[in-house]
Amino acid sequence: MDMFVVQGGRPLRGRVAVSGAKNAALPIMAAALATDGPTTLHGVPDLVDVRTMAALLQTLGVAVERAEDGSLQLEVVDKRPAIAEYELVRRMRASVCVLGPLLGRRGRAAVSLPGGCNIGHRPIDLHLRGLEALGADIRIERGYVVARANRLKGASLYLGGACGSTVTGTCNVMAAAVFAKGTTTIEAAACEPEVEDLGRYLNAMGARISGLGTPTLRIDGVDRLEGTTHTVIPDRIEAATLMIAAAMTRGEVTLDNVRLDHMTAVVRKLEEIGVKLQPQPEGAVHIDGTGPLRPADCIALPYPAIPTDVQAQLTALLTQAEGISVVTDKVFPDRFMHVSEMARMGARVRREGQSAIIAGGEPLSGASVMASDLRASAALVLAALAARGESVVRRIYHLDRGYERFEERLRMLGADIRRVVDTPANVPASLHPLSATAPESEAA
Ligand code: EPZ
Repeated sequence: MDMFVVQGGRPLRGRVAVSGAKNAALPIMAAALATDGPTTLHGVPDLVDVRTMAALLQTLGVAVERAEDGSLQLEVVDKRPAIAEYELVRRMRASVCVLGPLLGRRGRAAVSLPGGCNIGHRPIDLHLRGLEALGADIRIERGYVVARANRLKGASLYLGGACGSTVTGTCNVMAAAVFAKGTTTIEAAACEPEVEDLGRYLNAMGARISGLGTPTLRIDGVDRLEGTTHTVIPDRIEAATLMIAAAMTRGEVTLDNVRLDHMTAVVRKLEEIGVKLQPQPEGAVHIDGTGPLRPADCIALPYPAIPTDVQAQLTALLTQAEGISVVTDKVFPDRFMHVSEMARMGARVRREGQSAIIAGGEPLSGASVMASDLRASAALVLAALAARGESVVRRIYHLDRGYERFEERLRMLGADIRRVVDTPANVPASLHPLSATAPESEAA
């Protein structure tokens, strides 16, 4: 198991490019199951989750390979398999995105129910309700969703839940409805750019979806989809993470491959906190984090509001803003595993229900901290970059799921961060409990 060793206190400076969006690439890869021709995807990052999806698709009869030019080539070579096994599904909840395309194209699917998750309760009842509305027969058998449908029928359905819309639920129902006979209307569809990107990809293959990016989708069923070439949108969550890294270290960074129009709420909030963002030509943006940071209140909600996937990173930033800030997550109310780890670095932050209350302004000090989920691990790395002294961030396998070569790109920006095997010998002496700063032991 690897960990990061970070020497904090160095302002980030320089220029890096943002990768393609993980949360667009995954449902788009899954939708390749629905086509009768080869598909080429550009901009798909090389992530653990992408490799997991590729492995799952291969068990479902899809040939997947990374071409010389970095593009991902996918083609259905066997339409018989239709079982997404627990062994692979348990590694990544987004595996559920194969359900809709399999059901729509092959008329049958058995997908293992996803396991637990550190960010909170994540049922898939809305996915199943949407597919049933299209006429699918859905059963839960021995931990699997078993779905069958001779021919899906277009329907008008409402996909909203207690916490608002569902991103992968909308992906699943949309990918199935493209084959439903007649017209389907989806109300309370997710509007996230990643859902819109999937819809654009399906339309490029011959689907007929309108209303993309709005809460109401209209889908006129077709009989088949052809392969196509598609470039995945930039990752707005990674862009936000790098913007916050620049601000937390009081640095100045330029990012390439950014769709600022996909992250208006985050940009407005960062400007409110005191971060200066200057758009540059050709999708670049300059971040000036050298000014004073001001406290702010943030509420994570479905798009176009602040994404829950940026909540932990904003919490880390606000520990450095003098004053009281409140960060609330209405999407995953339990997504606060990072709070106690930040407190170990000296942050004055505590959890109150679905909010983190931050008394910001205290400098952070290096510590050994434990990552718990993808975005919490990113937030802890940012905190380590800002902290005085050395830190160790353990269980960074969480981070590798969603950030490509993260430490390499941070090093390109001047960070002192390295990946080492998690062994006691690799823990800096300054972090040993009996280091020189520890109180003298009583004389015998
Ligand atoms: C997607 O997860 C993202 N993952 C998550 O990103 C992201 O945090 C989340 O959307 C919210 O934006 C991918 O796209 C692969 P939801 P998803 O269904 O689709 C409830 C990351 O860090 N709900 O939009 O699983 C659910 O419990 C990951 O990259 C139901 O009640 O999230 C939650 O409270 C983490 N029933 C809310 O809806 C359902 O059937 C939103 O969940 C489905 C969801």
